[in-house]
Amino acid sequence: MDPIEVLMHEHRMIERMLKVLTAVAQKADTDEVDVDTFEKGIDFIRTFADRCHHAKEEGEFYPLIEQRGIPKEGGPIGMMLQEHDMGRNYVKGMDEALRKFKDGDKSQAGVISRNAVGYINLLSQHIQKEDNILYPMGNRVISDSDREALIERFEELEEKEIGKGVHEKYHLLVEELEAKLNLN
Ligand SMILES: [Fe+2]
Ligand SMILES: [Fe+2]
Repeated sequence: MDPIEVLMHEHRMIERMLKVLTAVAQKADTDEVDVDTFEKGIDFIRTFADRCHHAKEEGEFYPLIEQRGIPKEGGPIGMMLQEHDMGRNYVKGMDEALRKFKDGDKSQAGVISRNAVGYINLLSQHIQKEDNILYPMGNRVISDSDREALIERFEELEEKEIGKGVHEKYHLLVEELEAKLNLN
């Protein structure tokens, strides 16, 4: 498999979770907070989107394409890194508000919703930029042996960071939540 296809495949999974979050964020705005779905969504984002997908980009893919001539500071890679950080802040905000909500502070419903919507908008645009701009740029500058090395590094990273079987686990989680919310 091609490493860029692997990354794009992960984008499709993340987008499915963004749809799930969109559904529960709309309800949270009317004070009806689906705590279970938010908690599962946050776990998915932190583990699958961040420690699996963003780690592959930040630790392997971006540094490689930078070596092959795509600028980092002031260029597309720097912007993508900044957006990953902005995403982490939204998730932190969502998580903190959710905890307070569970402790009885119902006024946090709107904060949960706003952070979720912020994350959804940011990430969906981020994914578009990578799919349509940065990945094709990377695709043009990496060689066949780069591709083979990248795939190996991705596999190592996955095993080290999150362990085997995690793709399957999160795939099932997305399906479970889609079914619960009647999204399919
Ligand atoms: Fe990214
Ligand atoms: Fe990405």
